[in-house]
Amino acid sequence: MNILVLGSGGREHTIAWKLAQSDNCRNLYVAPGNSGTASIATNVPVNVTDFKAIKEIVLNNNIAMVVVGPEDPLVQGIHDFFLEDEALKNVAVIGPQKAAAELEGSKEFAKEFLYKHNIPTAAYKSFNAETVEDGYAFLETLKPPYVLKADGLAAGKGVVILEDINEAKTELKAMLVDAKFGNASTKVVIEEFLDGIELSCFVLTDGKNYKILPTAKDYKRIGEGDTGLNTGGMGAVSPVPFADGTFMAKIKDRIVEPTINGLQKDNLPYKGFVFIGLIKVGNDPYVIEYNVRLGDPETEVVLPRLKNDLVEVFQAIANQTLDTITIEIDERAATTIMLVSGGYPEAYEKGKEISGLDAIEGSIVFHAGAQEKDGKIVTSGGRVMAVTSYGETYKEAIKKSYQNIEKLHFDKMNYRNDIGFDLS
Ligand code: AMP
Ligand code: GLY
Repeated sequence: MNILVLGSGGREHTIAWKLAQSDNCRNLYVAPGNSGTASIATNVPVNVTDFKAIKEIVLNNNIAMVVVGPEDPLVQGIHDFFLEDEALKNVAVIGPQKAAAELEGSKEFAKEFLYKHNIPTAAYKSFNAETVEDGYAFLETLKPPYVLKADGLAAGKGVVILEDINEAKTELKAMLVDAKFGNASTKVVIEEFLDGIELSCFVLTDGKNYKILPTAKDYKRIGEGDTGLNTGGMGAVSPVPFADGTFMAKIKDRIVEPTINGLQKDNLPYKGFVFIGLIKVGNDPYVIEYNVRLGDPETEVVLPRLKNDLVEVFQAIANQTLDTITIEIDERAATTIMLVSGGYPEAYEKGKEISGLDAIEGSIVFHAGAQEKDGKIVTSGGRVMAVTSYGETYKEAIKKSYQNIEKLHFDKMNYRNDIGFDLS
């Protein structure tokens, strides 16, 4: 069949790379894509939220499956758009419908869902501009640090954690009254701080059945030792060494099953990936957040460990026959290191030529913010490339990625040298 992947990051290059390996994939398209996807698929210059333009591409190219990478089109209802259109309703869309995508689109909605289904998560209250004074009073009842979350999508920047109560109150006012994050902070969730180590669990569901995929841990901060500003993610490791059998059983019983059952009970139509951000407090898992898509750069370590034909898996999701699929996972560890533009996550320059790609041995380079220009590969974003390797252990895999990174170069290239530092 012909397949269209929506998105342009390392995640989408990895999804396309995995789909392209399937005998069931005939013509592969990526919109808008990057230099990595251009080497294995046809890039189409269309924005992921331009549903009308996406419809044209789907109809003109006889596309039977659309795989949605990022959250924006899902939260804006791309799956519903397809179902409601006579010409598109039989095209398989991998990604939840709008009502279910609210699990990522609204922090308040996600917290209500978690509470309703008795899934462990931090205690919280939600406030708006009218109740800002109640918000101050609620902050007084909490111990520092204070966790403030803009309700809506804020490009990964909507969570603020502060030590000082007065700063927390000022931030709450900035979000609610001064619309610091625009409409995304019309409501703010304030929650209890959970102290522990984070990991992510990925689940595939067809709305009835589910399969648990490998766990991953990402490294969000720009600086070594998890310091400095938050980024989209600077590296990832899979599996997560501390997620042993006992802990995974708790995740399954307390979190995954109630989540999938909750989606059905609440009539939230879901065919796609559920990304559950978890924190291990003592020996127990708590949900930090839901995302309604795969993570980036977690995808760059999770999909390389999946042995199944991804087109078959996606077809089973579309047909609600995921129970007939046996998920097979590569026993090896996979790690990825993200190369970023100097200055990122603040201002950075683009258009820098990337050299050394031909010299890579034993790693896979997934392109993110990179484009082809006049026969050269140049930087076009903050996160530029993810260098993924396998190993018998995560340490061996990390070593291989760093060895290959030595061969890569672009002006002001930056990366973290300590991915996995907190795992041993
Ligand atoms: P989110 O966008 O919800 O993933 O939040 C961003 C980051 O803030 C998470 O990855 C955590 O590191 C941190 N965080 C969010 N909520 C909490 C919490 N209740 N306790 C501690 N850290 C949190
Ligand atoms: N790496 C975190 C995310 O994709 O949201």
